[in-house]
Amino acid sequence: MKYLLFCCFALISLISCDLGPDSPQGFSLPLGDVNKGAAVLTKYQCLACHHINGIEQAAGINNPDLNIRLGGESTQVKTYAKLVSSVINPSHKLARGYPLAVISVEGDSKMKNFNDVMTITELVDLVTFLQPHYELVPYRSTNYQFYAY
Ligand code: HEC
Repeated sequence: MKYLLFCCFALISLISCDLGPDSPQGFSLPLGDVNKGAAVLTKYQCLACHHINGIEQAAGINNPDLNIRLGGESTQVKTYAKLVSSVINPSHKLARGYPLAVISVEGDSKMKNFNDVMTITELVDLVTFLQPHYELVPYRSTNYQFYAY
């Protein structure tokens, strides 16, 4: 009986690990160049729809409806895998904290598609540049007040 329980537990934990063909396991990027990554940000005019601390937005390319933050505090580690996905498959997981009607159309991200123009080296440099702009902060649980009736 104990053995059976153990087997069930092992099976459940295996399934929940999600190691199917779609798993990001084994994903690894070569070393990128931070300075070249900054140049990629300018080249593809990412700041037309985004802002990022410490970087000036070039005049004349601003998209007035979109100003999504890149970098900053996050309660989850922004991994390279997440950042690459955000660029090459933005609709996979839409940014949190924005009204869906502002950032998407029928579930699809309003982000421009760069997949046919951006080289892989550019993507690697871009992600290498972006990643250190994210800061991991501890999750703060809601501080419930004491209600007096
Ligand atoms: C035409 C507007 C537009 C341009 C140009 C654009 N983006 Fe976006 N981007 C968006 C929108 C809208 C979202 C929010 C929806 C989503 O998560 O896809 C987004 C989301 C993101 C996110 C996820 C943000 C989060 O908080 O989860 C990243 C990272 C990102 N963009 C990077 C880039 C980079 C790098 C470039 C330039 C190569 C770029 N974007 C160019 C519109 C744009």
